[in-house]
Amino acid sequence: MTQLLRKTILYLYLLLLGVSACQASVRTVITLGKGWKFTKGDPAEAMKPDFNDAGWASVTVPHDWAISGPFDKNIDKQVVAIVQNGETKASEKTGRTGALPYIGVGWYRTTFNLPDFTSGKKVTLLVDGAMSHPTVYVNGSKAGEWGYGYNSFYLDITPFIKPGEPVKLAVRLENLEESSRWYPGAGLYRDVHVIIAPETSVDTWGTYITTPEVSSKWAKVRLLTAINNPVDGLKLVTDVISPDGTMITSNSTDQLFGSTFDQQLMIQTPSLWSPETPSLYAAVTKLFAGDRLIDSCSTRFGVRSISFSAETGFQLNGVTRKIKGVCLHHDLGPIGTAVNVSAIRRQLTILKDMGCDAIRTSHNMPAHELLDLCDEMGFMVMDEAFDEWKQPKCKNGYNRLFDAWAEKDLVNFVRRDRNHPSIILWSIGNEVPEQSLKNGSRVVHFLRDVIHREDPTRPVTSGMDKVDQAIANQFAATLDVPGLNYRLPKYQLAYDLLPQGFILGSETASTVSSRGIYKFPAQPGKEVKYADHHCSSYDLEACSWSNLPDEDWAWQDDKNWVVGEFVWTGFDYLGEPTPYDANWPSRSSYFGICDLAGLPKDRYYLYRSRWNPTAQTLHVLPHWNWKGREGQVTPVYVYTNYPEAELFVNGKSQGRLKKGLTGLERYRLMWQNVLYEPGTLKVIAYDTNGEVVASKEIKTAGNPARIVLNADRTVLNADGKDLSFVTVRVVDKDGNECPDATNQLSFKVKGAGTYRAACNGDQSSLEQFQLPAMKLFSGKLVVLVQSTEKAGFITLEVTGRNIQSGKLTLVSH
Ligand code: GAL
Repeated sequence: MTQLLRKTILYLYLLLLGVSACQASVRTVITLGKGWKFTKGDPAEAMKPDFNDAGWASVTVPHDWAISGPFDKNIDKQVVAIVQNGETKASEKTGRTGALPYIGVGWYRTTFNLPDFTSGKKVTLLVDGAMSHPTVYVNGSKAGEWGYGYNSFYLDITPFIKPGEPVKLAVRLENLEESSRWYPGAGLYRDVHVIIAPETSVDTWGTYITTPEVSSKWAKVRLLTAINNPVDGLKLVTDVISPDGTMITSNSTDQLFGSTFDQQLMIQTPSLWSPETPSLYAAVTKLFAGDRLIDSCSTRFGVRSISFSAETGFQLNGVTRKIKGVCLHHDLGPIGTAVNVSAIRRQLTILKDMGCDAIRTSHNMPAHELLDLCDEMGFMVMDEAFDEWKQPKCKNGYNRLFDAWAEKDLVNFVRRDRNHPSIILWSIGNEVPEQSLKNGSRVVHFLRDVIHREDPTRPVTSGMDKVDQAIANQFAATLDVPGLNYRLPKYQLAYDLLPQGFILGSETASTVSSRGIYKFPAQPGKEVKYADHHCSSYDLEACSWSNLPDEDWAWQDDKNWVVGEFVWTGFDYLGEPTPYDANWPSRSSYFGICDLAGLPKDRYYLYRSRWNPTAQTLHVLPHWNWKGREGQVTPVYVYTNYPEAELFVNGKSQGRLKKGLTGLERYRLMWQNVLYEPGTLKVIAYDTNGEVVASKEIKTAGNPARIVLNADRTVLNADGKDLSFVTVRVVDKDGNECPDATNQLSFKVKGAGTYRAACNGDQSSLEQFQLPAMKLFSGKLVVLVQSTEKAGFITLEVTGRNIQSGKLTLVSH
């Protein structure tokens, strides 16, 4: 590909993604994806330009050095008491950070050319995220470093560049043991960019767009543009492009205030941004020196207003709504933390269908790709910075960095993200121990004020679990939005005592379940453990501090001052295998509404029945393959948006049930005394008028006969990054899904694609995601097929013993 074509594609790509993109004639942005060398370990002199890295692995960035495993019980084994879980005695915790080899030092090296570098230009290295403690060397000299592995940062590397010569870049990373409460990933797991711009140009993250006045008739748009190295005679021209691509207004100014231009524009009858209408505008700014164009950037923004108040709760564009959010950790299951747009888009597509309208980036700065997609697909975001301040939760966690880095981290966090219309809240922390300290509110003051200084338009929150203490020491009152994690019995007290007049469920539920696994008798329980290391999918089990979805909903429904919730979590994630965190081989969480492979658990349909009321949800559980339980009580639950249903076993009615007024009956239909007999389970749903509106049947399946494949996408981009997620199931000879199948399967990908990973959602499986073989878990698994840079057909073949294989063809162009 020619240099020009590459730059043009990048420009269009960045424009589409909403990242500030700048014109090829005035600035160049290169993303350093291919051609990296990597080694684990700390070889002496690896930073030197002439270091021989021929023996190192060749990798592509984003890269997660630990995800291919193998899992090992002894990795980051922590003998700790998890105080925030109420533990008082230390015990051995295995799998807390995923049991993957993320600890230690790793080095990355690459060489690149700077085609457009001439004197008078500035070269900036922008790192989207590097896990962790990155130290950057350019041509053998230390160019800079950062502490926190989740933050984006940039360095001016101009002084280290030798004009006309290739640039040798080396990055050293180091992860410490006991530094995290979940799998943090390892390596250059987000993109690395090089920006070559004139010395006088728009600063990195220098554009700041707000919409101070918003109505359906008009909106005021304010654009602050910070200029690096301002000189006399500069002029800034900004064109506003509407969601349909037309230029609707323009402004030109030569008035610099210090080093910043301040422009005010008006948009008539704006298309307001919301989860339901994610309309996006672009501001194209052009910087001129006299008549000469010297820089240009395009920044995406949305027109929307947000407010939190005692009178009207949370409002978006002047309309009160309750937040229907989920918390997400940053790993993407079987591909780990290496950022991938198609994997994130798939997660959001699944959540959208569930009716979810908000994401909390627990408990750290997310990849900007997630925020870009939230802007485009319509999700509100609670953007969170920290899980720890100065008081440790993990021995080697952020507490070691807090004093030196907290303000710098917040500045980068806000400046990078503040143009995203999706962001409605900044969160400064999650369950930080400072909640209980006498001077805890001083730290809130400090962090809150840094954020208000950088972005006065959004409120600041924090997730609190020590409610009494945080009320007593003013921690909670100092926040703009008080967020309570769990602690439902404290909601009323917090509402009564706090000055804000509303409460956000910043973290809710933490119900635990394993997809397709049901335990008898079906009964509510806390911290229940079973010999098979699974949790029941009847959705009745939680932790000592947590609860069932239905309990949160009662508060959401009955109190208009509860402004919404963020459920823990949308997807299972690597690490934190509560309640089996001391029971090897569990190594990933049980909290997800979907499993680690992204397959919906039953709970998905429970949330969908409430959160997506316009879609039909009629979901029956458990499965109906219970050999050996004949004649035994096997409760049947139905999750539905309809108020009433009748259940039949082999044609015999088990009664007609209506949703009740209290307890679990308020949100679920439950036939508690059904006796199992093989055959057909059928449910018929009625609407509020008592009319039949839907029905559903599941049948006892026979032996697995053939493999069935379904891809989330069959047409891929030939960019070497795009992924198709193929769900693999087995069915009997009549096509009934075999819900308890555990067949050992193998995967082969041919043509214009490669096998990337597989995952079956079993939290206690030690099978490596990157090997092309895996057992089904509860009858299913997911295979990830990745495109290459060559267009063409891709075939995936899945085979197993004594079963008809499955074959699927994808196309990539
Ligand atoms: C919360 C915490 C989360 C996660 C969750 C599990 O207290 O904020 O990070 O640990 O518990 O229930």
